[in-house]
Amino acid sequence: MIHHQHDIVIIGAGLAGLRAALETSRVADTALLTKVYPSRSHSGGAQGGIAASLANESDDNWELHMFDTVKGSDYLGDQDAIEILVKEAPATVIELEHMGVPFSRNANGTIAQRRFGGHSRPRACYASDYTGHVILHTLYEQGVKQGVEVYSEFYVVSLIMNKGNCCGVVALDILSGELHLFHSKAVMFATGGYGRAYKITSNAHANTGDGLSIVYRVDIPIEDMEFVQFHPTGLYKHGILVTEGARGEGGYLLNKDGERFMKNYAPEKMELAPRDLTSRAMQTEMNEGRGIEGKDYIHIDLRHLGAAKILERLPQIHELALNFVGVDCTKEPIPIQPTAHYSMGGIPTDNHGQVVIDKDNTPVKGLYAAGECACVSVHGGNRLGTNSLLEATLFGQRAGEAMAELVQREKEFTPLPENPAQPAEKEIATILENEGKESVAQIREELQVSMTDNCGIFRDEKKLKKELEIVKSLQERYKHIHIDDKGMRCNTDLMEALELGHLLDFAEVIVAGALNRTESRGSHYRIDYPKRDDENWLKHTLAYRTDKGPRFDYKKVVITRYQPTERKY
Ligand code: FUM
Repeated sequence: MIHHQHDIVIIGAGLAGLRAALETSRVADTALLTKVYPSRSHSGGAQGGIAASLANESDDNWELHMFDTVKGSDYLGDQDAIEILVKEAPATVIELEHMGVPFSRNANGTIAQRRFGGHSRPRACYASDYTGHVILHTLYEQGVKQGVEVYSEFYVVSLIMNKGNCCGVVALDILSGELHLFHSKAVMFATGGYGRAYKITSNAHANTGDGLSIVYRVDIPIEDMEFVQFHPTGLYKHGILVTEGARGEGGYLLNKDGERFMKNYAPEKMELAPRDLTSRAMQTEMNEGRGIEGKDYIHIDLRHLGAAKILERLPQIHELALNFVGVDCTKEPIPIQPTAHYSMGGIPTDNHGQVVIDKDNTPVKGLYAAGECACVSVHGGNRLGTNSLLEATLFGQRAGEAMAELVQREKEFTPLPENPAQPAEKEIATILENEGKESVAQIREELQVSMTDNCGIFRDEKKLKKELEIVKSLQERYKHIHIDDKGMRCNTDLMEALELGHLLDFAEVIVAGALNRTESRGSHYRIDYPKRDDENWLKHTLAYRTDKGPRFDYKKVVITRYQPTERKY
């Protein structure tokens, strides 16, 4: 076991982790751990934009942005946090611009902004369709310049807690197979989402929601996990993102009759309705036999935009469609289907990124989270596109500021408990020594397929109960897995087994939470409870781990400016 001591350990080197590290490393000794490499973090997969009411294309202001976000969240977003998000958005984007993010420009030199679903104004600041990629690279460059210490290919296995305080993590050095203990005054999770719990997803292979599970295992709740976002436009059969910016630029969604069917679902917003509504509309078209050739896909048609505009604004989409489905989108429509994209729920935090443990927002000393793995909650039941790059950067910064302040105030490290690495050592040894008959790949495949079938865009009690049983039986089978590689160096079998353990943990929470929430709100749509029920369900779910499955408690939604009303587009 190799021991390290750093004031601050940040796990995950996407936008939230990198932005936090820039803040903390100015004043504190910071270690940034990532299971991939910073420039391969999944933030780089975000294409279409980052929201800010810069008003470069039309009138706009933070209040309009706030209302759109609250309404988009189906009134489950916490309005105090949303107010921070939208008020600080312009400064966040301008700071990124000053760091060197190469945003696309208007003729007058201002940052170009495009339309996005659920936003009433064009407020997505973009860099063609590489927005996440260029922000990620710019933040990483800044990190290198500032000397942030990065531990690439370090996979965190467990959190170290002592009497309710967080004091570090245990991580596996993937290359050597050695375990490392990081003793710290503050730990921050910025480990992203969990799209890999589903078969069709826009998420990278690394997005297995590790942070959620690691936290859940030490008796910290996870919040609002039943809210899973399906992005309407994933490349057919692959799930790879076709940015909402394609519709923002004017792309049409067409069914088998060549009809712009969104007029039947969101007559005002059409293709720029929010994602929950648009994905349901597409799924309904397919379920009712109006998918292309009667199959499970729809077309997005960009041809009328013209090749010049497509190649300037959507070059990545052009390339992805060509490479993955053999379609030149300047000449043909692209086949698409909804794809698991984003997790609205996550590790509950306050507005400074500090993890909270209950409905009274009792903070956990030394533990922070930001970005997709966190639930602050600015997205509530449904996130608007472009609000996630914003949230990750802005709340990453806020968490960084809070940690910097903590470690300057606290002179001493919380002492380590006895045997701090024992849970990680035991978990790894169990997997390596297990001689069962079950295959990791097989269990993962069954999980992904059944989650898609039974806990996807449309849900009901029967399917959810069935899925809960499936997940429980997969958890049981997981106890009897066998991996072929018994060595320690670069053991991807071991990694995948650890990841599967995480997927199985929180898949149960997603399904049990969806079964428990007997209403429809945002991305959570129950066929058997098709209405939103503010009387009983205007509240956040907190799921606590028990041996019998999650135990639920609830937390009030913070409502400041906008009372819930019917949501129409
Ligand atoms: O469609 C997109 O470009 C995705 C953006 C987002 O999820 O915010």
